[in-house]
Amino acid sequence: MSRIANIISTAHYLPTRKVTNAELNERFTALGNPDVIGKFAASTGIEQRFYAPDDWATSDLALPAAQEALKRAGRKPEDVDLIILGTDSPDYITPATSVVVQHKLGAKNAGTFDVGCACASFPTALTIASGIVATNPGIKTVLVIGVYMMHRLADPTDAAIFFYGDGAGAAVIEAGDKPGFIGAAMQADGSYAESWGIYSGGTAEPASETSVKEGRTQVRLTKRYPPEINDTGWPKLFHRLAKENHFTADEVDQVIFTQVRKPTIELAAQNCGVPIEKCHMIMDKWGYTGSACIPMALDDAISLGKIKPGNLVVMIGSGVGYNQAACAFRM
Ligand SMILES: CC(C)(COP(=O)(O)OP(=O)(O)OC[C@H]1O[C@@H](n2cnc3c(N)ncnc32)[C@H](O)[C@@H]1OP(=O)(O)O)[C@@H](O)C(=O)NCCC(=O)NCCS
Repeated sequence: MSRIANIISTAHYLPTRKVTNAELNERFTALGNPDVIGKFAASTGIEQRFYAPDDWATSDLALPAAQEALKRAGRKPEDVDLIILGTDSPDYITPATSVVVQHKLGAKNAGTFDVGCACASFPTALTIASGIVATNPGIKTVLVIGVYMMHRLADPTDAAIFFYGDGAGAAVIEAGDKPGFIGAAMQADGSYAESWGIYSGGTAEPASETSVKEGRTQVRLTKRYPPEINDTGWPKLFHRLAKENHFTADEVDQVIFTQVRKPTIELAAQNCGVPIEKCHMIMDKWGYTGSACIPMALDDAISLGKIKPGNLVVMIGSGVGYNQAACAFRM
């Protein structure tokens, strides 16, 4: 029997505390920056986001998504052979968040590792999981998680907090005899590494009293990315993925892009040759959930009946650094 990775189930978890643009607008008006939230709202389409309870870590957010995905797959935590988790807002710098989730989940037979390419992590993790499942008959059930709690690592007085919403998404991957996984494509440009990130707390600048005071242990958007990074970068990746894996834009049933800016998705969809109706979006109702946004949008599209068994789905993510990763699956 051939061993082709299939997505057996998906799930997501959205925390309950809603933070509206009106709430943020009040904060930034009081801080003397009255226009910024309205401008960001108009340019992105984000209307609200949700925050996890203050005493939760990223692993706590990942847990309910993982539990629900396993339940929907009819699997128990002890059935999981491997957990791959993607995030750039981890519980700790080290150890990895995936191993914390393994313990909290009770996945006592699972190995674990994290994938660290920010918001491109979920398509990357699905691609890795697919390769591992295809080549290792002993690894039968892989739990792939994308999770994001960046608001906790942001400065509440920095307007970029507008973007960050908490959330988690998960998928269970197992081998089948037909696709399943079709292919992947990736590209990156590390010259943007200093544009958006957390710049103190690692080896480049260990955290110090000064770096904490000056906000360098918090996430910073220091230089705006040029729009063409996604406007043309995503279509380039899409067309390469389609060509190398012998499908056309017409054959694609749904494209799930990184959920940060609605007009970018509209333009990229046009440049991919895919109608916008086939590009499910969640940023309006759930905010930008970074490394979790692709699995959350995937699960939402499935729940809404926009993705059905047999459909061809492309996922394309952009992460700070920057990294871009795409993969195609037949559901
Ligand atoms: C972050 C990002 C989504 C914001 O995009 P945007 O909606 O185009 O936001 P802009 O930077 O144009 O800002 C919108 C407006 O707010 C203003 N603004 C931005 N920051 C502000 C601040 N701190 N205070 C006041 N105004 C501010 C801008 O001047 C602009 O005003 P204008 O419309 O009058 O010109 C975009 O810059 C980006 O980086 N896209 C790529 C995202 C990506 O893939 N990243 C990797 C994955 S995490």
